[in-house]
Amino acid sequence: MVIWLVLAILLVVVMVALLGCARVTIPRRASAEGIEDPSAAQAYNRISQWPQFKFLRRMIVGEIRKCHPEGIMVDVGCGPGYLVAAMAKSFPHLHIIGADIANEMVQLASKNLSSLSFGEQVEFRQGDIQALPFDDNAVDFVVSTFSLHHWSEPSHSLKEIHRVLKPGGQFLIFDLRRDARRFFYWLLGFAQTFVVPTPIRSINEPTGSARSSYTPVEAEAFLSDIPWQQYRIKPGIAWMFIWGQKD
Ligand SMILES: C[S@@+](CC[C@H](N)C(=O)[O-])C[C@H]1O[C@@H](n2cnc3c(N)ncnc32)[C@H](O)[C@@H]1O
Repeated sequence: MVIWLVLAILLVVVMVALLGCARVTIPRRASAEGIEDPSAAQAYNRISQWPQFKFLRRMIVGEIRKCHPEGIMVDVGCGPGYLVAAMAKSFPHLHIIGADIANEMVQLASKNLSSLSFGEQVEFRQGDIQALPFDDNAVDFVVSTFSLHHWSEPSHSLKEIHRVLKPGGQFLIFDLRRDARRFFYWLLGFAQTFVVPTPIRSINEPTGSARSSYTPVEAEAFLSDIPWQQYRIKPGIAWMFIWGQKD
């Protein structure tokens, strides 16, 4: 009797593991551009300080380090500014500009970093990826994390990044991938129901971000019609890094 029970439990575990490991194929559902709602912005500010976000920022800074950034760096969709702070500490030789479409986020980021004494090393500007507030060939490095899925016209956004980069300049984008493994959606669903603050749940996050993100194949399509010197997509279980360098 016990052996049948153990076998039945094992079977269920194997079925769940098999189902959970399958990649999700769902149509993209666009999310709003910009987190302007003050309560959602404040809640995002709070969860950005949770250990899992700190862990991801460490991973992203490690990836940026491999690119040997120099000069002027722009973080597009910088949100509450914690990646800007981490980069300013890790790369004190860089001038870092955080840009975000949402004025609410720009205010939050400026406030968050005001006590960290970065002085002129860091600044924040309101700016839309569709029309970045920089001249042509002005920036050495563009980074962007968890923002791509908000961009309604990623091909145009990538052209805009290409426009502002200096020759030889690089970009690194980190975002979720919609075709993540199913168990990742289960995790997000659990977090949305039981863990995240109400203002985040009420804007259908974090599931909405996953559903509005792009797949590596889609990313390849919007990268390939821009004359990069080289580009690379590094897919992970539930996210991807997109890197490129201007000619
Ligand atoms: C999920 S938050 C990510 C914030 C931060 N990069 C991080 O990793 O925690 C997405 C950010 O992208 C910004 N954003 C959305 N659409 C944008 C656009 N078209 N141009 C610039 N920023 C945008 C939002 O306002 C928001 O602050």
